[in-house]
Amino acid sequence: MKIIAGSSSPMLAKNLSKEMNVPIANVSIKRFPDGECYVKINDKFDHAIIVENTYPNENIIELFLLQDAAKRIAKNIDIVIPYYGYGRQDKIFEEGEAVSAEKMAKLIEQDANRIILINPHKEYIIKFFSIEGKAIDATNSMAEYFKGKVDIVIAPDKGAMRMAEKAARVIGCSYNYLEKKRISGSEVSTKVKEMDVAGKDALILDDIISTGGTMIEAIKQLKNQGAGKIYVACIHGLLIGNADERILNAGADEIITTDTIESAYSKVSVAREIANLLK
Ligand code: R5P
Repeated sequence: MKIIAGSSSPMLAKNLSKEMNVPIANVSIKRFPDGECYVKINDKFDHAIIVENTYPNENIIELFLLQDAAKRIAKNIDIVIPYYGYGRQDKIFEEGEAVSAEKMAKLIEQDANRIILINPHKEYIIKFFSIEGKAIDATNSMAEYFKGKVDIVIAPDKGAMRMAEKAARVIGCSYNYLEKKRISGSEVSTKVKEMDVAGKDALILDDIISTGGTMIEAIKQLKNQGAGKIYVACIHGLLIGNADERILNAGADEIITTDTIESAYSKVSVAREIANLLK
């Protein structure tokens, strides 16, 4: 058995390799001058664990090629997709749209035996795959990081409320949620709501930080209501453009993400949870 580290996930693949005591495969991944991708597995094994995001777009092609190369040498292929890109379009919101999350699943399952996703945008996304699949919820791992650090967990919108509740249970503190209205892809507004945060250290927790707009709105409310330290955390830190800078300038004391999308803010690893499932 060997782990194939896709370009999106060298750090997570290494952590997974340590957790499972399974070596990383020797793989060459190159880009041609026109942007096309080339992969070659310089190794022999009969069970491959491919770790690769379906984000950004070029990693999708890289994943398909790694799957194709792997199926030519290995009998078993497990695919770990730490951040399932295209997951947010998980149903038809307006007539004429594609269901991207389902289409991706149909393409990926062609050369795979088992699939693992980490906090897909909606739990039912795993059902788009007709192969064996499991969705990991990394909320508990994230919450462990905040034990003894915060007095309250805030969900920046109703969609994140269950996460906030779960995290609060692990931390042993209270939770609350805000009501968000999305104006455009990068603009949101949040209804003013009194929360019991004055003088308290707070964690704002969501599944994804994309442009940072959602978090910035929540930070403003917490600041206005006299919160102490403000921690901003998510599972998938897309952090588009200078989202991190904007969040820190808005008054966050720290940003914490997992290593599903690797950055300087990836302070919590999901490797152990993946390893527990794969072992
Ligand atoms: C939305 O449903 C997600 O849970 C996040 O709240 C959203 O993706 C965050 O986006 P942004 O950082 O651009 O406000």
